[in-house]
Amino acid sequence: VIVKLTPNVTNIIPPGRAAAKGGADALSLINTINSVMGVDIDTMIPYPNVNGMAAHGGYCGTAVKPIALNMVSELARDAEINIPISGIGGINTWRDAVEFLLLGASNVQVCTAVMHYGYRIVEDMIDGLNNYLDEKGFSSVNEIIGKSVTRVTDWGNLDLNYKTVARVNFDNCIRCNLCHIACEDGAHQCIDFTEIDGLRYPIVDEPECVGCNLCYLVCPAPGAISMIRLDDGSNPTSWRELSSHPPETMTGD
Ligand SMILES: Cc1cc2nc3c(=O)[nH]c(=O)nc-3n(C[C@H](O)[C@H](O)[C@H](O)COP(=O)(O)O)c2cc1C
Ligand code: SF4
Ligand code: SF4
Repeated sequence: VIVKLTPNVTNIIPPGRAAAKGGADALSLINTINSVMGVDIDTMIPYPNVNGMAAHGGYCGTAVKPIALNMVSELARDAEINIPISGIGGINTWRDAVEFLLLGASNVQVCTAVMHYGYRIVEDMIDGLNNYLDEKGFSSVNEIIGKSVTRVTDWGNLDLNYKTVARVNFDNCIRCNLCHIACEDGAHQCIDFTEIDGLRYPIVDEPECVGCNLCYLVCPAPGAISMIRLDDGSNPTSWRELSSHPPETMTGD
C-alpha cells in the first residue's frame, strides 16, 4: 500500500508518521493544493464557473514543485519514517526528477506535465537522467537517492556569519535601474549611484547589504550583478547557538 499525502496541512510529519506506523509500504506526495484560480471580474463569479457557482480546485504543475520538494525532504530526514517516498509535484524535466531523488524520493510521478505534453516527455526524462548519471560517474540511480538530504536543516541551524553581498559588474550593466528600485523599495536601501565616463551606474554600499539576493534576481542583464561571499567560513554561529547563550542585557539598575 502506497499512502498518498495531501499537502493541505501545516506539518507533513504527523500524517507521514501515522502512515508509516499504520503499516504503509511507501508514501507518495504531494497531491494538489487547494486553490481558487481567480474571479471573472465582470460577472464576479469565481472560476471554475459551474452554473454560476465555484468551488476550490487542486493546484499542481511547475508552481508547486518547491512545496513538494520541501515536504519530501522533511519526510526523508525524519528518523521515524523509514519507508520509501515517491516524489510528485511539478516535475517537467529530468532535472526536476533528479532534485526529488536527491532530496530523498526513490522514484517520481508526473501528472500535469504528461497531461500537457504527453507520455513522450518520459523518454526525454529517462535520457536526461541517464546522461546525468554518466556525467557524474554514477552507475545506478540508487546512488543519488537522498544525497542532498543531510544538506537540509532547520533554519535555526544555519550559519548567521555566512556573509554575502551584491556586487555590480559595470561592464555588463545596462543601467536599467531595476536593482536600485528593488533595493530601495523592497530591501535595505543600500544601492547608491556612481558616475563612470559621465554615465550613472548603481553601486552597492557593501557594509549595509544583507545579501538578500533581490537585486540579483531582478537584474535582467546576465553577469551584471554577482553575489560575493565575504566571510571565510571560519567562525560559524547559528541562531540556535546564540539563543541558547543569550547576551547579558542591561537591567537599568
Ligand atoms: C486533473 C487532475 C486529476 C487528479 N486526480 C487525482 C486523483 O484522482 N487522485 C490523486 O491521488 N491525485 C490526483 N491528482 C493529483 C496528481 O496525481 C498529483 O499528485 C498532483 O497533480 C501533483 O503533481 P503534478 O504537479 O505532476 O501534476 C490529479 C491531478 C490532476 C491535475
Ligand atoms: S542583496 Fe539585497 S540588500 Fe544587498 S544590494 Fe541587493 S537588494 Fe540590496
Ligand atoms: S538591474 Fe542589473 S542591469 Fe539594471 S542597473 Fe542594476 S545591475 Fe545594471
